[in-house]
Amino acid sequence: MAPTTQKALVIPAAKAPFQLVADWPVTKPGPSDVLIKLVSVALNPVDAWIKEFGAGPPLVPGYPFILGDDGAGVVEEVGPEVTNVAKGDRVLVVGGFNNDRAMFKEYLTHPAREVVKIPDNLSFDQAATIPLAFATAVTPIWASGEGANSVRFTPPWEEGGRTKYAGKPALVLGGSTSVGQFVIQLARLQGFSPIIATSSLRNAEFLKSIGATDVLDRSLSPADIKNALSSLTGGKPIEYVYDAWGRDRESARVGYSVLAPGGAFATVIPQELTDIADLVEESEKKGEGRRIGQAWATYDTPGNKELGEEIYKRLTGWLETGAIVPNRVEVLPNGLAGVETGLQRMFKGQVSGVKLVVHISETP
Ligand SMILES: NC(=O)c1ccc[n+]([C@@H]2O[C@H](COP(=O)([O-])OP(=O)(O)OC[C@H]3O[C@@H](n4cnc5c(N)ncnc54)[C@H](OP(=O)(O)O)[C@@H]3O)[C@@H](O)[C@H]2O)c1
Repeated sequence: MAPTTQKALVIPAAKAPFQLVADWPVTKPGPSDVLIKLVSVALNPVDAWIKEFGAGPPLVPGYPFILGDDGAGVVEEVGPEVTNVAKGDRVLVVGGFNNDRAMFKEYLTHPAREVVKIPDNLSFDQAATIPLAFATAVTPIWASGEGANSVRFTPPWEEGGRTKYAGKPALVLGGSTSVGQFVIQLARLQGFSPIIATSSLRNAEFLKSIGATDVLDRSLSPADIKNALSSLTGGKPIEYVYDAWGRDRESARVGYSVLAPGGAFATVIPQELTDIADLVEESEKKGEGRRIGQAWATYDTPGNKELGEEIYKRLTGWLETGAIVPNRVEVLPNGLAGVETGLQRMFKGQVSGVKLVVHISETP
């Protein structure tokens, strides 16, 4: 039997210091839920931003609040209606912004149909690097429900999804981000080529190992990046740009301006924050037909729901065959007590090409 209380890393009020508590209640699973004992959980930039700046509704429904969006663990209990997973299964889960769905604690109660089995070739640490960043990579390109903020590529499980993009150039800005690493791999899965990424050059060989054909130093000037792109594509128009960092104005502008008419631009942050609104307006006036998709890393919205169903079905297989590989991992010491140091490093830009992970069992 699972305990009724657990350790949890709680933010008692907006911008307040973390409190590690020992008596946070464990939510009992409903008929279609599973109770997961979390083993490895990963840190994300959004955790660092909420911790530093505080946030209110709709992102943070209220305080005390628990962060954490990426979890991997073992199914401990299943509700009577659950058929897709069993006690003892290893699973990964994407969290959400409410305390029941948060990962910086020992147990997670979650709808069973939204968990993904971890194949034997992946550790819990590796599995924890996947959920949020993978959802961020897929939602702005494949979501197709009503209201989806997506460029609506044909996904690889539909006819043409692995052939119609073959030989078309793609550009991934911020390729070494956790998100960017999945974007590169998904572009490879769909046949895009060349796949050009920008990042610090220390991550170049790794990005090539997961599908980038070329890596450009992200500190090059916009003009140098444009010249390099033109020579790498042989002047072919770039059909797909994914801005996986999103917070660099110049880079976003380069990305949008090199996009072919009719091409697809996906980004991790709202368009108005990328500062490309004037370029978009100009392009629309010319009738260039460029599409924009904005990531929203959840399958809970009506537009993303069907995509979620497909991902829950397929992700285990992609991981098993190596079509998709997880991020590289750096494990922080002290379990939940190590989260704060990790978030500070993230906030200061001191994380490069790895995902920070903590082991829940190491929490003091
Ligand atoms: N919309 C959503 O739902 C959603 C969900 C998740 C994440 N996000 C956003 O997506 C972005 C990526 O998140 P993440 O978790 O993948 O990040 P991350 O892995 O923590 O980011 C670390 C990486 O960022 C790169 N980087 C830092 N400054 C950069 C810049 N100016 N241009 C390009 N790359 C830069 C670094 O690259 P080098 O070391 O190679 O220089 C480093 O490898 C963040 O802005 C995050 O807030 C949005």
